[in-house]
Amino acid sequence: NSQHHRELMALHKKAADLYHHVLMNTRIGEPALDYLLSRGLTPEIIETFKIGFAPQKRDFLSQVFQNEQVASNLFNESGLFIQRDNGDYLDRFYQRIIFPINDHQGNVIAFSGRLLKTEDFSGKDMPKYLNSPETTLFNKRDTLFNFDKARKEIRKENTVFLFEGFMDVIAAWQAGITNGVASMGTSLTNEQIRHLERVAKELVICYDGDSAGTEATNRAIHLLSDHSRFQLSIVNIPEKLDPDDYLRKYGAESFRELAMHGRETVFGFKMHYHKLSRNMNNEKEQLDYVHQLLNELVLVQSPLERDRYMNQIAQEFQLSIHSLEEQFSQLKGEQR
Ligand code: CTP
Ligand code: MN
Ligand code: MN
Ligand code: MN
Ligand code: MN
Repeated sequence: NSQHHRELMALHKKAADLYHHVLMNTRIGEPALDYLLSRGLTPEIIETFKIGFAPQKRDFLSQVFQNEQVASNLFNESGLFIQRDNGDYLDRFYQRIIFPINDHQGNVIAFSGRLLKTEDFSGKDMPKYLNSPETTLFNKRDTLFNFDKARKEIRKENTVFLFEGFMDVIAAWQAGITNGVASMGTSLTNEQIRHLERVAKELVICYDGDSAGTEATNRAIHLLSDHSRFQLSIVNIPEKLDPDDYLRKYGAESFRELAMHGRETVFGFKMHYHKLSRNMNNEKEQLDYVHQLLNELVLVQSPLERDRYMNQIAQEFQLSIHSLEEQFSQLKGEQR
């Protein structure tokens, strides 16, 4: 019920305030604050996203809430605690940088906690990011990070940027791209697509430039083509960097240029995507590649775009437009 929801939200709000206070105003938070500043975040942006720090102490939050006599059913349902066999509550998040996750109205409904130094924990079964579990407040499939703050600009631009990680959304915001969101460390869902479709007609996929990001881009393209009417484009981040890495290496101006003017079409993405898994020195693989591209070209609606790509392929592989067109009509016939 909604009284119950309000209490759970109040609990999350209080936790977010506490974590933020620890980060900004205490000695315990200093290493985490230094880390964030060293990653190029400004105090203003840390404020805007209410980033916090959960200290090492395993019962930091649970002590505060127990002193305030928070009801035990709220303890259990908040997802913020883990109950031990003896009944004691331990904090789920400790020794982690805390990113509050808001619902689309701006209420804190969950957290994601990042390890300070991933190196220290590699192989220790400690995930880099730890998220709140699903609760009555937090439905992952339905939630987009930063949608509450980005919605206004998304509407204004009629465009949304889709990122892989929280840090990418935040870094892009700091660089002036404030219409970015991220799915919750999982692949994009139909529910998330529905939310975005209501406020924009263009969607720009801006995932990491590494192979995981490229594969995720390919999956997102298919999901979005099958389940939405978005105009899609892709920002391909070079050197296998992610948007946040790129920003730190090349600066805000360069990132904005890439994000605004360096977008490629879906077919443009496919042209390099299908090369990645092939040895392009091998003649048979070259022809397989051309065949695969022509298959993708059947999906391109615009005759102008098709013509242009057809010419590009013809030139790259020294094939005649005539033979490409013939092959293309065959494929089109098969797919009909
Ligand atoms: N993620 C997660 N659990 C992990 C790793 C990643 O839930 N163990 C999710 C997080 O939402 C993260 C996103 O996947 O933001 C992208 O992962 P990754 O690219 O590895 O992280 P970054 O966002 O680049 O984080 P950072 O720059 O802080 O290393
Ligand atoms: Mn503050
Ligand atoms: Mn990644
Ligand atoms: Mn990344
Ligand atoms: Mn990153």
